Amino acid sequence: MAQIQAPMMGLTTTQAPFIEKAQSEGKLYIEQPYDLYTDDNHEAWKVLFNRMRPRWEKYANEHFLQGIANLCLDPERVPRLEDVNQFLCALTGFRAKAVAGYVPAYLFFDCLRQREFPTTITIRHKDSIDYLPEPDIFHDISGHVPMHTDKAFADTLVRFGECAHTAAVRASEMKDPVLRVKRLESVIKALARFFWFTIEFGLMRGPRKELKVYGSGLLSSYGEIEHCIEAPEVQRYPLQLEWVINQSFEIDHYQPLLFIVDSFDHLFSLVGELEAWMKDGKLDNVSPGEPGVNEADLQSFLVATT
Ligand SMILES: [Fe+2]
Repeated sequence: MAQIQAPMMGLTTTQAPFIEKAQSEGKLYIEQPYDLYTDDNHEAWKVLFNRMRPRWEKYANEHFLQGIANLCLDPERVPRLEDVNQFLCALTGFRAKAVAGYVPAYLFFDCLRQREFPTTITIRHKDSIDYLPEPDIFHDISGHVPMHTDKAFADTLVRFGECAHTAAVRASEMKDPVLRVKRLESVIKALARFFWFTIEFGLMRGPRKELKVYGSGLLSSYGEIEHCIEAPEVQRYPLQLEWVINQSFEIDHYQPLLFIVDSFDHLFSLVGELEAWMKDGKLDNVSPGEPGVNEADLQSFLVATT
């Protein structure tokens, strides 16, 4: 009797049996089973990548454009992490590392410290390319990874990972367990806000002082990359640390407020300042509000030094 073949479901964000299995087995770091990508998965990549190109040319910062060229990404096919890493690793030592899903905050930041970038390998469904319920390989590889080819930016990510490490060590040295959790929650919130308003949604001055995009959430969004530069109602201000660490944000709509840095050297120095403020206790009582700190994120910091 002829066997009925299960339909090829591929590695689609909303349906990926391979990922579900890995998650049920408690696996976080995985291989990229490249042969599982379907024609529809590759088609989704092709559409996403090709429609972004003119917008990148117009709005992305020059380091990103150079990064896209350096990585030699194939516009027609979902990238193979192994290939991406060959180009990336030679430039800054960074590597894209396949993950099966959400990476708790400390583990994520600690990967950055080791020059590894936790990378989602699923891709959104080709019939809903503007809908992104969670990060996918297009966001991670074409939004984040080209930035990692730039030395100053890569060093900033490592510095940010060191900052998270300092937060974990500092928490472990606090005697009072109630105070430890209260302060750590505040510090994690401050780190998450800084990451959000820089690495995910940052703007930068270009060579002629024009505004350019370097945040990966913007670089991977066809609509928002234009909106964030062109829309008159978006508030765009020079980055002030005291503002960023106290500023809540929501993830389900275009950002109404964005912050501008002068350069990646400027961004690098801001991470150093962030760490100094943490050591002085200035991140221990940041303004309440989004993002919430979930139990997995909190625990990841609490067990980091044990
Ligand atoms: Fe991201």
